[in-house]
This record gives sequence, structure tokens and C-alpha cells, in this order.
Amino acid sequence: MPTIPATDVDLHTESARIDPYPIYARLRELGPVVYLSRYDLYALPRYDDVRAASTDWQTFSSARGVFVDPVVNAQLEGITLCSDPPEHTALRSVLGRPLRQDRMRELTPRIEAEADRVVAELVERGRFDVVADLAEHLPMTVVSDLVGLPGHARRKMLGWAEAVWNTQGPADERAAAAMPAVQEFLTFAAEEAVPGTIDPEGWAAHLYRAADRGEIAREKCPMVMLDYITPSLDTTILAITNTIALFAANPDQWDLLRKDRSLIPHAINESLRLESPVPQFSRVLTADHDIGGVPLAAGSRVALLYGSGNRDERHYPDPERFDITRRPGDHLAFGRGEHVCVGMHLARLEIGVLLQRLADRVHRFEIRHSRPLINNGLRGLDYLEVVVEPA
Ligand code: HEM
Repeated sequence: MPTIPATDVDLHTESARIDPYPIYARLRELGPVVYLSRYDLYALPRYDDVRAASTDWQTFSSARGVFVDPVVNAQLEGITLCSDPPEHTALRSVLGRPLRQDRMRELTPRIEAEADRVVAELVERGRFDVVADLAEHLPMTVVSDLVGLPGHARRKMLGWAEAVWNTQGPADERAAAAMPAVQEFLTFAAEEAVPGTIDPEGWAAHLYRAADRGEIAREKCPMVMLDYITPSLDTTILAITNTIALFAANPDQWDLLRKDRSLIPHAINESLRLESPVPQFSRVLTADHDIGGVPLAAGSRVALLYGSGNRDERHYPDPERFDITRRPGDHLAFGRGEHVCVGMHLARLEIGVLLQRLADRVHRFEIRHSRPLINNGLRGLDYLEVVVEPA
């Protein structure tokens, strides 16, 4: 019987958060399943196994949490991300209503107008921080308006969301430091973001109306409301920033995109593949299960390493190369299957509109300074100062 290779490698050190890719390559070499002894986790580092696990919720359950730390996993059981059908189906159908692909048409003019304004201003300025000045703009203005939160919350949203992501790894110092902000966020969701203070036309209010119609339990509303905030901000901000950094480093690809705008959707996929903002989530096995010929016992927690699968040389030839003609629509950065990112159409719209406007106005990006984000659940840049040469 094949044995499972084990390693005490730590995917949550500062250097691993900045550059996990050499570790991922070693894990892919070791086998289809590798035991991460530090966190009692079985990691799936290869594309095919991550994809198969994501699309088999009956065996790979989300209902016992999808993070690393057992305490956080126990606390978050029952939220959309951490549930299985049929409960998951009911929550997701209410949550996903305003995020459906056919609803994006209504949002497009507003997002285009905002993108137009911000890109024109930044190109005029010539030098700016992509994170704070460009990437944060659409998620922070448009999305917060759509959710319809009371004004003071908007200033805090980003800090709250980043704190929640920091609890998604092991119970380390980063997670401990995030706890007060997480608590504040939960209190806000339960006590302040309620009918009477939220915009009656916003997405948050629509959840409470769905509860009134009996579609979801009313006590679920605060947690489901958090699903509009926590996963929608930093993920998209990181994706936009990573995309600009990749185009700055690969000017030939920027020239290609400027000449042929039909490449924009492929460029978004290629950027997400190469620099996945959410490197992993986990599942728990509901039954004994064989992965690539290796038997795993029911109850094992299995980490789906999206960021590693997306660079698997078995699936993507020359995986480290940024190539917007590659068309990697099958990447894992939004997950797959039952829990595939419910906000992906919005994220694609925001990134796509920004790329359109930038392609109209920018000939070259030149990176001056950058700083990595150190976060337990996310990966990307925290700061990216560029100089742009106008078109
Ligand atoms: C580029 C940006 C984004 C990335 C990379 C991303 C990534 C992901 C990933 C990997 C998952 C799968 C979870 C799993 O496998 O368990 C997911 C689920 C989810 N995402 Fe996103 N996301 C992005 C943008 C957004 C936006 C804009 C929203 C909301 C407006 C959002 C809301 C959600 C929610 C609620 C889920 C849970 C879905 C479920 O469990 O059924 N995401 N996302």
C-alpha cells in the first residue's frame, strides 16, 4: 500500500506567504497527497486532484469549515462557504441573486463611469499606488453602495475583511492580532447592519426580505451579509494589483492586449491562474477515499492548494510564464463545483472594465516600489507604486 509522504514545511511563515511557489513545487513532486504534520492537514498540490475534490462535495465536505485552525472551523460551521447542500443551496441561491451573470448588465454603466474617472485622473497624475489609488476604488465605492451599509462602516470594511482573512490560517500571532477587529465586525453585522440602518434597496436588505419570505432563517442574515463584504474586497483588489504588476513585468503582453481587446477575459484568467489571491481552502472527508492511488481515512482534513494546482506543470505547460493567449479558463482561482466563487462575475466585470480603460490610456507601466501583503488567507501585494507612460 502506498504511504503518504509527510513534511513539516510551514505554509504560513512570512517568507512562505510572500513566495509559496518553491514549496508548492516540492509538494507536487512529493505526490498527489502530502501530509503537512504541523497542521494535521493532507495537502493536494496537483491540478487534477484539486479539481476532482472541488467537484465532489459529497466526499469533500465544507460543512466542518474550510480553514486550518479547528477553533475557527467550528465557529464558522453553517455559513455559505462552510456548508453542504441542501443548506448550502438555499443560502447560496439567496446570496447569489444580485451576483448572477445576467444582473451584471445593470451594474456595468456605473462601474464603467467610475473606472473612466479614476483611470483618467491617475494617468494624468502619472505616478500612483495601484493598491490604494486604483484597485481599491471599485470594490470600495461601488460594492459598498450596492450592499447598502451605513456610512461609518465603509471606512472600516477593508480592515474588518482583512482581519477575517487573517483568521483563516493557523492560530498564530497574525490570527490573534486580528481577533478584536473580527469581533467588531461580527457585532456590527448582528446589531448595526440591520433593517432601519441599511439602504432598503441594497443587497443586505434583500437578505432580510428573503428571510421574511421564509427562504432563509432570519438569524442567518448577519453571517450571509458578511459574504458580500469579506470575500469581495481584498480578493478583487489583489487580483487587480497582481494583473498590473504582471503587465508591468511583461510589456509584450500589454502590447498584445492593447492591440486585441478580446484577450481581456483570457488575461484575467491568466493573471488569476499565475497569482491566485486565495491560495487554499480545505475540506473534510466524509468517507474513506483514494486520491491518486493513496488511501485517506474519513474525517481527514484536506487542503485544496488552488495556488499550486494553478502552476502544475502536469496541466499547464511552462506554468510560470504569463501568457495571455494561453486561455486557461479551467483555472482553480475561483474554486470549482458547488462552492465556485459566487462573486466571480462581479470580479471579472470590475477587472475587465479597468483593463479596458487602462488599455485606452496607458502605453507602459513601470514599477517603482512594491511590498507584499502578509496575510494568513490571501496572497498578493499590499503596495505597488508605478509610473505610467500615457498612450
Ligand atoms: C478575484 C476575486 C475573487 C477571488 C480570487 C475569489 C476566490 C474565491 C474562491 C477560491 C472561492 C471558493 C471557495 C471554496 O472552494 O470553498 C470563492 C467563493 C466565494 N466567493 Fe469569491 N473570489 C473573488 C471575488 C469575490 C467577490 C467579488 C465576491 C462577492 C461579491 C465573492 C464572494 C464569494 C462567496 C460568498 C463565496 C462562497 C461561495 C460558496 O460557498 O458557495 N468573491 N471565492
